[in-house]
Amino acid sequence: MEKSPLIAPSILSADFTRLDKDIKMLDSSAADWIHIDVMDGVFVPNISFGFSVIEPIRSLTKKVFDVHLMIVQPEKYIERFRQAGADVITVHQEACPHLHRVIGQIKDTGAKAGVALNPHTPVESLSEVIQDIDVVLIMSVNPGFGGQSFIENTYNKVAKLSRLIAASGSKAVIEIDGGVNAGNAQRLVKQGADVLVAGNFVFKSGDPVKTIQELKDLQ
Ligand code: DX5
Ligand code: ZN
Repeated sequence: MEKSPLIAPSILSADFTRLDKDIKMLDSSAADWIHIDVMDGVFVPNISFGFSVIEPIRSLTKKVFDVHLMIVQPEKYIERFRQAGADVITVHQEACPHLHRVIGQIKDTGAKAGVALNPHTPVESLSEVIQDIDVVLIMSVNPGFGGQSFIENTYNKVAKLSRLIAASGSKAVIEIDGGVNAGNAQRLVKQGADVLVAGNFVFKSGDPVKTIQELKDLQ
């Protein structure tokens, strides 16, 4: 039996007319992290929200705020996302020509440093910084939208990344984001995934609290 993954519901699929209600629901659930998707309409073809949405929900829960920055030049805003309440700050490898510097910048704020990889970006692109990273986020869809279908090649990537992490002695955890559901969660954990993000699967289910528990108990 594999160990239970951490579950990180993505509030991109939440009800924005009553975000407080959904955050309180997550607070009372088995969710470990709350996944917060920031999109700038440049790095990805969609715009979501920024500091002004994160700040007011911070006081509603002590759960880990896992902030996924799908933005260009994230180095400009690291400090502000930390101040807004981020515990994990994840930047995209593809958005950072000076990735090593940005990882250091995130850690200097006291947050955990995450690096996300788009579906086409090889895990080997992190081989020289893997020791410095706390979280590697593998995109299992092309970033920009909730509710897309899971890309099957993700299983291979997770297995490769697990080997890279083991060989380097890195303590990084592996997070999977996009199209996660009860049909792929188990296999992802078997290949080495530690954290599962789920947006639509949780929020469009009849009973999100139950669905979160189910994802956790699948193993
Ligand atoms: C996609 C976002 C994801 C998204 C996941 O760009 O990074 O976090 O909210 O949503 P689902 O689980 O519906 O694919
Ligand atoms: Zn995300």
